[in-house]
Amino acid sequence: MNSLEIRQKFFDFFSKFQHTIVPSSSLIPAQDPTLLFANAGMNQFKDCFLGKENRSYKRAVTIQKCIRAGGKHNDLENVGFTKRHLTFFEMMGNFSFGDYFKKEAISFAWDFLTKEIGLDSEKLYASVFREDQEAYDIWLKSIGLPSNRIIKLGEADNFWQMGDTGPCGPCSEIYFDRGLSFGCKKEDCLPGCSCDRFLEIWNLVFMQFDRQPNGKDILLSQTGVDTGMGLERLMVVVQNKDSVYETDIFAPLLAGIEELSGVSYDQAPQDIKTAFCVLADHIRSASFAIADGCMPSNEGRGYVLRKIIRRAALFSQKISDKNIFPELIQFLVLSMGKIYPELIAQQKLIIALLENETEKFALNLIHGQELLKKYVKESVDQRTLSGENAFKLYDTYGFPIEITKVIVQESNYTVDIPGFEKQMEIQRAQSGKKQKAVFAALPSNIITLFTGYTELITEAKIIALLVDNELVDQVEKNKTCWVITDKSPFYVECGGQVSDQAKIFINTVPAAVNNLKKIDKAIAAEIITPFQICIGDTVMQSVDSQSRIDSMKNHTATHLLQAALVSVFGKSIKQAGSLVVPDYLRFDFSYHESITAEQLMAIELIVNQKIRENIITEITTTTYNNAIGQGVTAFFGDKYNPDNVRVVTIPGFSAELCGGTHVRATGDIGCFKIIEFSSLSVGVKRIVALTGQKAIELYLESFALSKHLSQEFKVKPNFVFDAVKKLKDQTKMLQFEVKALKKELLQSQIPSLIQNIPLIGSLPLLIHTFSTATLEELKEIAGDLIKRKSGFYLLFGGQGEKLFCFGLVSADCKISFSLQDFSLFLSEQYSFKGGTNKNSFYGSCRKINQELIRDWFLKNNN
Ligand code: SER
Repeated sequence: MNSLEIRQKFFDFFSKFQHTIVPSSSLIPAQDPTLLFANAGMNQFKDCFLGKENRSYKRAVTIQKCIRAGGKHNDLENVGFTKRHLTFFEMMGNFSFGDYFKKEAISFAWDFLTKEIGLDSEKLYASVFREDQEAYDIWLKSIGLPSNRIIKLGEADNFWQMGDTGPCGPCSEIYFDRGLSFGCKKEDCLPGCSCDRFLEIWNLVFMQFDRQPNGKDILLSQTGVDTGMGLERLMVVVQNKDSVYETDIFAPLLAGIEELSGVSYDQAPQDIKTAFCVLADHIRSASFAIADGCMPSNEGRGYVLRKIIRRAALFSQKISDKNIFPELIQFLVLSMGKIYPELIAQQKLIIALLENETEKFALNLIHGQELLKKYVKESVDQRTLSGENAFKLYDTYGFPIEITKVIVQESNYTVDIPGFEKQMEIQRAQSGKKQKAVFAALPSNIITLFTGYTELITEAKIIALLVDNELVDQVEKNKTCWVITDKSPFYVECGGQVSDQAKIFINTVPAAVNNLKKIDKAIAAEIITPFQICIGDTVMQSVDSQSRIDSMKNHTATHLLQAALVSVFGKSIKQAGSLVVPDYLRFDFSYHESITAEQLMAIELIVNQKIRENIITEITTTTYNNAIGQGVTAFFGDKYNPDNVRVVTIPGFSAELCGGTHVRATGDIGCFKIIEFSSLSVGVKRIVALTGQKAIELYLESFALSKHLSQEFKVKPNFVFDAVKKLKDQTKMLQFEVKALKKELLQSQIPSLIQNIPLIGSLPLLIHTFSTATLEELKEIAGDLIKRKSGFYLLFGGQGEKLFCFGLVSADCKISFSLQDFSLFLSEQYSFKGGTNKNSFYGSCRKINQELIRDWFLKNNN
């Protein structure tokens, strides 16, 4: 059975038991700061487990794209060195939200493995959390698994949590016994041992708690089931292979590496095999991450991506001198493009980013490895690389700690990780980065109704007050506090649109809103209290209408812009970021090719055309799947409630999932003008544009300016550019002529100067100032003079307080002082600044006194 068949069987089996097939979510978690990448099938259901979100189904089945390369679940360092670890994998899972629990979950899993795909039931083991007698009994009594194949394990193995906070619970894992010949070969080896004998294939989590930031577990209002089975590991068992890399999933990638490098995997020594596996894994994680909108950077998930690519570069050099890693994408697209079309759509961007990243890192990789060799030699006694040195490699050559570890491991060294962390901490402290304030969770009845789609002034009641993150009943005068009301017209920053500028009127006294925040389902406004306020007080909340209307114009124009970009460049355009403020809009998007001025103008024309059509915007709500099915654009980083998404449609042209505020009809935007276009990095472009009054003012100013110029140049506005160019050419020619004339003038003085060079002792010394000469010209004249007559030439140029100075002495002139001595004298007397060569010196100084200089020569030249 191949992996495609297993995928289908999995969906079919759970559909049969009323599970809704839900597509994999993006690898970029939707507005979840606790997660770097989607790392489990349950991520997209986090709020369903927490009871914060209700969907039309209570049972779901998914095959989820996952990356475990940073944060709580991190397998990056194991990849290549074990037979089962991957940074990217697909997790098959079935879920229950307040529906079935342990008994059904265990029985579904058992039936799927033993009946659907026919695994040998004698080889299956189960582990349970040691305090979970209920799960133990289900395995023993309902399933009939013998007690010697049910293992009780502790929290580390059998209690699952998604991150430091969030839904969690005890779990039960299913293992497949691959036989004594695998792993540690100890007779008494059991699941839980770190060796390869018992392969963990399925984890059934019984969601019961919500872990708080302080580590406490709160009981969830409903229990749930979250299961996860790595497709790749299952294939090891189904296809009876030694490692995940030998399954049909990886075969095309290993073959691809062979083709690009000319090296045979089967005949390669173990370290080269390891490198094959690392590349095969890393091309998957890097490509899928990029396809979902992640860009390499020095922070957060962007840095995890960068680490993966750099680690791949390290291993790639073991296989081939060529940079084969970026090329591997073609083999991934061939094998997985049908299942994940985003790989096909973003193939060019992926290859461009991978090439850029690996090429930029190539030299650092060479120099860093040389330095590392030196460090290793220096610390031969301790066999540990110091934290300082590991940090130097990170800081100077961009070596992530993971790749430093791999390299020193080859010499059987370790790295002083605490020492490294300490250095990182010092750096962080120096760069002064502050953690953002985290707000305490609010009671579930504190909910604000957003009225700002239809009104800009709303009367409301205060329902909660927060001071220093504590809930209080009243706040004294002149205190900073967060006011939460039952209704609010205030738009809180989301989807690129910034928060409103606003005021709260309390008994008609205005208090400026200094900050707006969404806390759970409440809108909180930060003010300084004009007098004592209490829960229950009635307030008037007012949005600054001009800035809001300007933001609305910019927001709708952003939608028009995105649709225009897609219409000109095709569907591979992906939003990479967006900012909507009252004054302008900024839109970042990924696109791998260069964009011409003509194409930008075409985009401006399209957007303005749509504005003139004055299309009425339509706002509807529907389910996420329905919207996506109808081709509505969704932004990868945003969180959408699958059962209730808001669609902003400009009929016939654009439809986007969006919670922002928009104009009633496109004509309200008035006008659109791109004012800036730039490339942010490989494959990411930025457009900044103006709308409404601001765009019109820009057009008017530009028109006035070009009119003014056309009058000045006495040509039609269309010809101003040519006129300026002509003027520039003329100026250049004139400068050239002036230079030549000046040279002639200066040279015409040479004959008379040569005739009257005074002697200081036997040394001919000419001191002369050319009032119009530059340093370059002085140098030329000195060269001419010295060709005619040997001597010491001390020439000055310019007028006023500061002069250029150039001195030149013939090689055959005997002087008994050094030019340094003389320039020192000039420095002391005339603030000379410059440089000295063998026979010359140059620089600038104050106005000189020729007599004093002659005296110095008399004294110092014998
Ligand atoms: N969330 C659990 C895991 O990732 C089961 O899906 O292992």
